[in-house]
Amino acid sequence: MKRLYIFDTTLRDGEQSLGITLNLKEKLEVAHQLVRLGVDVIELGFPASSPGDFVSVQTIARALKGVTVCGLSRCVAKDIDRCAEALREAESPRIHTGIAVSALHMEKKLRMRPDQVIETAAAAVRHAKTYMDDVEFFAEDAFRSDRNFLVRVLTEVIKAGATVVNVPDTVGYATPWEYGELIGFVKNNVPHMDRVRLSIHCHNDLGMATANSLAGIKAGADQVEGTINGIGERAGNTSLEEVIMAIYTQKQRYDVQHRINTREIAPTSRLVSMITGVPVPSHKAIVGANAYMHASGIHQDGVLKEKQTYEIIDPEIIGVPRNRIVLSARSGRHALKHRLAELGYSLQAGDMEHLYQEFLHLADQKQEIYDEDLHALMGVCAPEARRYQLKSFSVVTNGHVSATEGADDGNPPVAAATATATATVTLEIDGLAVTDAATGNGPVDAVFKAIDRIAGIVICLEDYNLRSVSQGATALGNATVKITSGDSPSVVGRGISTDIIEASAKAYVDALSKLR
Ligand code: KIV
Ligand code: ZN
Repeated sequence: MKRLYIFDTTLRDGEQSLGITLNLKEKLEVAHQLVRLGVDVIELGFPASSPGDFVSVQTIARALKGVTVCGLSRCVAKDIDRCAEALREAESPRIHTGIAVSALHMEKKLRMRPDQVIETAAAAVRHAKTYMDDVEFFAEDAFRSDRNFLVRVLTEVIKAGATVVNVPDTVGYATPWEYGELIGFVKNNVPHMDRVRLSIHCHNDLGMATANSLAGIKAGADQVEGTINGIGERAGNTSLEEVIMAIYTQKQRYDVQHRINTREIAPTSRLVSMITGVPVPSHKAIVGANAYMHASGIHQDGVLKEKQTYEIIDPEIIGVPRNRIVLSARSGRHALKHRLAELGYSLQAGDMEHLYQEFLHLADQKQEIYDEDLHALMGVCAPEARRYQLKSFSVVTNGHVSATEGADDGNPPVAAATATATATVTLEIDGLAVTDAATGNGPVDAVFKAIDRIAGIVICLEDYNLRSVSQGATALGNATVKITSGDSPSVVGRGISTDIIEASAKAYVDALSKLR
């Protein structure tokens, strides 16, 4: 069986495009989880893009064992130097360098002649080879390039010593049959392809990244690139979990082997969603909350008679254990620890007490605690002390619903709602309680404004998201906010509560504590 290498770029193509700068600790946590998942290569970032990216690539590259770590670089000598420097202490380093090869990109973006592009690409690979053996070359916008030109570029970079050649569909333009055909063409027409690994890298602009990647694998690709939950530029990258499970469910079609531990898929998906603040849609293939739920009567009847009638994947395979117990305020530390272990969380000795108190607080609010609640709890329970803590808040709202004047077009008048609110918030800052009040356009806005006043800085709210963690009147609200202030990169904060205003306030305070 052929070996398929799994290349994860969640921390580069995924993170870079979100406008979120994950901090080093968060990136490290994702990287360690990717190692547990069993990916072969982790692209850690673009070291020349910022000093922060350099340090995080360097620190994580030093820490990871048993996996190839990779840094991105343009075909520019000083980028390659920075990349090599960041990877210097890695156990198994790789430089991923490349340049655009479509006529459109070469002419309009690079303003380079095709011959210059070939020379630049080969020179970059030769330069990268002075630092390390493993050098991957990406031919940006390869799918929209002239095929004969693509063959010329790849021929030269292989001569220059590239060990992997990557043929991306950078703008997600391909259909599966076309992309598979391109990969087959490269395999058959570029000399010495047997000496290198052929990599595929797809984007999801037309919703076909997974399908295109599978077509690429069928056509003979050795390595598939993608991100967890498919996060990434615009409509995202190939979802690695979808590729892995497509192969799993139809092994005979692909005849490839990899070293992914599928039981780590759900924990990895949750971690990436939690850390990036990008929610997984409930209907998302493989890892969506509804992916294994059966709602209609006919389906429920079928599943009860024979699971496989409507269930092509046993959720336990991706690490969603079937629930046997429901926890409550009467559950002890042992039961909580046991269930968390079953869900894949390993707790440090010192974390348990704090976590248990948070669990009891939650159990008082909502009586029955399900797995989704525990995941949400683990997502917000920071072991380290936060600079800002939400102590209390109260909100008075003045809801006012009025009918707008009758529209001229004959449509009925539309009801307009305005709600002004006044919030009083107390935060503990480095141990000291500080209270302030503000009015806002609705309760959440008023609470955020009161927090701004207490913090005494100008905060820009970039994103706010509120989701219900489970169903029913006592469902938990899970709030995520993305904020920035001054020169600080954007940060994400999270909060949970059965009270959605409290969840929002907690998320805002959590983010505030992370601002630099
Ligand atoms: O989509 C793309 O072409 C890329 C390259 C930098 C590999 O992300
Ligand atoms: Zn990409």
